[in-house]
Amino acid sequence: MLRIKLMDSVLALLIFGQILYLLLHQGKFGHWLSEEAETDKVHLLILSTWRSGSSLVGQFFSQHPNVFYMMEPSWHVWRTLSGSNARVLHMAVRDLLQSVLKCDMSVFDAYMKGNRKVLDLFFWYASRALCTLPACDKFPNVSIVNATACSDVCGNDPFEKVEQVCGLYRCIVVKEVRLFDLKVLYPLLKDPSLNLKILHLVRDPRAVARSRMQVVKELDIDSSIVLNTKGTKINDSEYDVLHEICQSHAEMFKMATNDPPPFLKGRYMLLRYEDLVQDTLRKVQEIYKFASLEATDKLVQWIIKILHGQGLPKSNEAFDITSRNALNVSQAWRNMLPFQAVKEIQDVCMDAMNSFGYKFIFSRAQQEDWSLNLLLPRLQF
Ligand SMILES: *[C@@H]1O[C@H](CO)[C@@H](O)[C@H](O)[C@H]1NC(C)=O
Ligand SMILES: *[C@@H]1O[C@H](CO)[C@@H](O)[C@H](O)[C@H]1NC(C)=O
Ligand SMILES: *[C@@H]1O[C@H](CO)[C@@H](O)[C@H](O)[C@H]1NC(C)=O
Ligand SMILES: *[C@@H]1O[C@H](CO)[C@@H](O)[C@H](O)[C@H]1NC(C)=O
Repeated sequence: MLRIKLMDSVLALLIFGQILYLLLHQGKFGHWLSEEAETDKVHLLILSTWRSGSSLVGQFFSQHPNVFYMMEPSWHVWRTLSGSNARVLHMAVRDLLQSVLKCDMSVFDAYMKGNRKVLDLFFWYASRALCTLPACDKFPNVSIVNATACSDVCGNDPFEKVEQVCGLYRCIVVKEVRLFDLKVLYPLLKDPSLNLKILHLVRDPRAVARSRMQVVKELDIDSSIVLNTKGTKINDSEYDVLHEICQSHAEMFKMATNDPPPFLKGRYMLLRYEDLVQDTLRKVQEIYKFASLEATDKLVQWIIKILHGQGLPKSNEAFDITSRNALNVSQAWRNMLPFQAVKEIQDVCMDAMNSFGYKFIFSRAQQEDWSLNLLLPRLQF
């Protein structure tokens, strides 16, 4: 009797052990545990294009004390493979983004020299997390750190610091301008450990065009990759680059909003730069909520000052962010572009203008009539 009972217990123990082994071995528990641990992390991709206010919007996130931010990490891919083209580089860009969002910075091995430092990362000082403790002991871990001051005194640590610091944050935000097809991101959106959200930032193509004209040289390499000219300098008098950009962003918007696949539901938000400028408080609250971040008073006040304050000197640096009257700046193209150029831009970007709700103008008089609002109200996504 006793023997049978003992046998039963041993058997039960064995079976229990077997089940436990199987569960662990097949990674069921491990998977369940890591997924549980990952889901309270938020990963946000700010998807935009050059000269659309994305550096500024990136700062709204970067300056949040709970955010680790990285600006255009794919710059490294494009610079390393500059004889290639945007479509071919998509997969390398996707791989890089997936790794970076998971704080796996070994992916940069392919694109940067050995023995690198934090300061070898493109625009590292745009990342508050890389300017403050524990990445840099010159600034406390608080919101709003001066990037220029940071670039003077931080960044000398070995590159490994980037990965270590990234791992300390529960919200990872990356800004990218080198994506032209939403499908490229589908595997990332389906990855449950990423919990990826996409903030799609767009701006009036006429304003984008005018801003691009001011920095043609700085955009040279990127433009030749967009147009696949194998490094040959382009003559973009017909707005071919802008056409490519407008068209791809219109397509990405349609893909995300016309009958989107289930894994995109609740993970996509369109933000028009002009809405941010005209309705700052509401929009800022919306984008923080989208990223599950608290909109602190300090940050909100700072953003309002950046967008609407005056007084700070305007910087000559093409990619610097300075405080200025953004409402005025956002419409500067109306003063600066000849009507003929406006017509051509509207033509190459017709689809984007319609998709995002920017009103066409048909005469010089309309262009000069500042009472004419060119922003159509639109449904929220
Ligand atoms: C920075 O401060 C915030 C709270 O203000 C905290 O949640 C976060 O974990 C801190 N980050 C680091 C890397 O210490
Ligand atoms: C940021 O720091 C630089 C250099 O230290 C300084 O010249 C500049 O005025 C600072 N900007 C702001 C907004 O405080
Ligand atoms: C660019 O091409 C256009 C025609 O396609 C031509 O009229 C113009 O002169 C060219 N500009 C330069 C700087 O080569
Ligand atoms: C914006 O500022 C410029 C130059 O300071 C001025 O010419 C233009 O009329 C202003 N636009 C608005 C809408 O105030």
